[in-house]
Parts: sequence; C-alpha cells; structure tokens
Amino acid sequence: MVHPNSRFSRAAGFAAALLIAGCASVSDLAPEPDPAAVARAGAGGVDASDLVAGRRIYLTDCARCHAPVAVTSLTRGQWNPVLDRMAPLTRLDAEKDAQLRSYIEAVAPADPPD
Ligand code: HEC
Repeated sequence: MVHPNSRFSRAAGFAAALLIAGCASVSDLAPEPDPAAVARAGAGGVDASDLVAGRRIYLTDCARCHAPVAVTSLTRGQWNPVLDRMAPLTRLDAEKDAQLRSYIEAVAPADPPD
C-alpha cells in the first residue's frame, strides 16, 4: 500500500518491521483517531496535525527500544504514569511530548467510571 505521505509510510514500515510477524497491523497498534476523537481533541485546543505527529512519534521514537504495545491496550489513566516514565527515556521536547500525549488521549479508551 502506498500512503500519500511518504514520511508516514517510512515510519509505519519501520514500526511494522519491529513487530513479531503477523501479530498485529500498524493500525491495530496505533489507530488513526476517528472523527469524534479529532473533534474532542479540537475542543481541547489540539490541532488534527498534532494528532498525526503524535501517532508518528508513537510509531517511531517510542519503538526505538521495544515494539510498541497497542495504544488501546491501556486506558488514558493507565497511560499517564507509563508516559511519565517513558517520555524522558525518549528525550522528547515539550512539543513532541504534548503531541504524543494528545494522540494517546485521543485513541486510548476512557477510564471506566469508579
Ligand atoms: C530508551 C529505551 C526506551 C524508549 C525510547 C521507550 N521505552 Fe518503553 N520501555 C523501556 C523499557 C526498558 C521498559 C521495561 C521497563 C519499564 O517498564 O520501565 C519499557 C516499558 C514500556 C511499557 C510497559 C510498561 C508497563 O508498565 O507495563 C510501555 C507501555 C512502554 N514502554 C511504552 C513506551 C512509549 C509510549 C514510549 C515513547 C514515549 C517508550 N516506551 C519509549 C524502554 C524504552
């Protein structure tokens, strides 16, 4: 499949190469935000391009040391302490850190109500 954005394709191919063959596709691991998630993020002042950038960071920078887990396998609340540990390891600047967190916030499931 040729994606119109070649930088995206390289990122996705790189992440796919890290996966154990056949386990999961890139879109299972890091789904594109659906329109509702984009709208929710937009209401919080996040641009759709930030979500695209955050997804790319997830599939590249976060895949340097280990294969990425599916973003949807943790809730938003479960992600926060993991990101607090992983972001410094990844040496993301403040903008990239915010983009990554916005992307995860947009696609990870909400925490179940107490
Ligand atoms: C410098 C190497 C490195 C980078 C870069 C890195 N990780 Fe990790 N990651 C680790 C190691 C080592 C572990 C296992 C030890 C741990 O949990 O602290 C881990 C564990 C994890 C876990 C499992 C944690 C748990 O509590 O079960 C997740 C999820 C994760 N990383 C996500 C990410 C994300 C998202 C990024 C990008 C922000 C990232 N990692 C970047 C090294 C890295």
